[in-house]
Amino acid sequence: TCLLKSSGRNLLISLNRQFSVSSSNNANKVAVMGASGGIGQPLSLLLKQSPLVDHLSLYDIQHTKGVGADLSHIETKAKVQAFVGQEQLHDSLAGANVVVIPAGVPRKPGMTRDDLFNVNATIVADIATAIAKVCPEALVCIISNPVNSTVPIASEIMKKHGVFSPRRILGVTTLDIVRANTFVAELKGLDVTKTSVPVVGGHSGNTIVPLLSQVSPTVQFTQEELEALTKRIQNAGTEVVEAKAGAGSATLSMAYAGARFAFSLLEALNGKQGVVECGYVAAEGLETSYFATPLLFGRQGVEKSLGVGKITDFEQKLIQVAVKELKANIEKGVKFVNEVY
Ligand code: NAI
Repeated sequence: TCLLKSSGRNLLISLNRQFSVSSSNNANKVAVMGASGGIGQPLSLLLKQSPLVDHLSLYDIQHTKGVGADLSHIETKAKVQAFVGQEQLHDSLAGANVVVIPAGVPRKPGMTRDDLFNVNATIVADIATAIAKVCPEALVCIISNPVNSTVPIASEIMKKHGVFSPRRILGVTTLDIVRANTFVAELKGLDVTKTSVPVVGGHSGNTIVPLLSQVSPTVQFTQEELEALTKRIQNAGTEVVEAKAGAGSATLSMAYAGARFAFSLLEALNGKQGVVECGYVAAEGLETSYFATPLLFGRQGVEKSLGVGKITDFEQKLIQVAVKELKANIEKGVKFVNEVY
């Protein structure tokens, strides 16, 4: 459906026409937490290029001053500020209305996203605690893995501080959509810029559920194609982890995906109507308490979930498998916060 046509993506594609896009008077301040990392640097570069960003705040526990000095020389409007180390964490968040979090360790070959839990759970919880205190109204886009658990972790922290809203805590699954669009367009000879594949569930292996029956434009797949494509989309992150052979996971494609997601949010914050992106958020009336679906964005973040729509038996079975794993991932995150914070 045309609803899934992303404005964030269109904006990235048309960055060169950047000075004609924004019409809002609201100043947008985006904070990138983990800005010196493999994702953080190219993501910050894309954000710096965007006319939607007035202020760009970079935070990391290392190297942010260099990244900030470097980016600050680019002739675009976003004002860059760099913060380094725990003692500057709060300052880095002051006034932010969007916070993007790619802080934390990435996978190495043989690792699952859940293997990152022990390190990344604390990183996300600490950043979420600071957000709850400094900019509780900000929209929080979580990239750090395992997203299936880090979104519940950030949400539980917000609840503990009495500032939780399901409109504002979002898990970024956009890379799954980006990959699905690319693979489907390649296979079917479609124009990739006009191909749109909704991906629901979560963001790890079996919890990634592409809805290939809802591809726009309409395409037909054989059962073999459905199975092979689904598997490839679910394991695409591992393709990159293996190709990088110990040097990390997807960074450049993730930076693109994170920027696309952030741009869509910023456009909606500025008043654009009908902006839709898939994302992993607290869900109501579904089998799990968090689930990724297409989301309609508005001036306050998530306006509503558009649900999974009409799905096939094949997709229903995939969702059943996803739900089981998601429940465990969510419970692990909630338990962590309750025990440690
Ligand atoms: P990286 O190791 O290159 O960068 C991580 C950065 O986080 C480093 O600069 C590090 O100093 C910083 N950091 C560590 N602890 C911090 C703290 N307490 N506060 C602020 N910054 C801190 O890793 P990379 O490749 O950028 O990946 C980051 C995360 O994104 C990983 O957890 C990875 O699994 C995840 N990821 C998520 C994807 C998604 O689709 N949602 C796709 C790819 C990666």
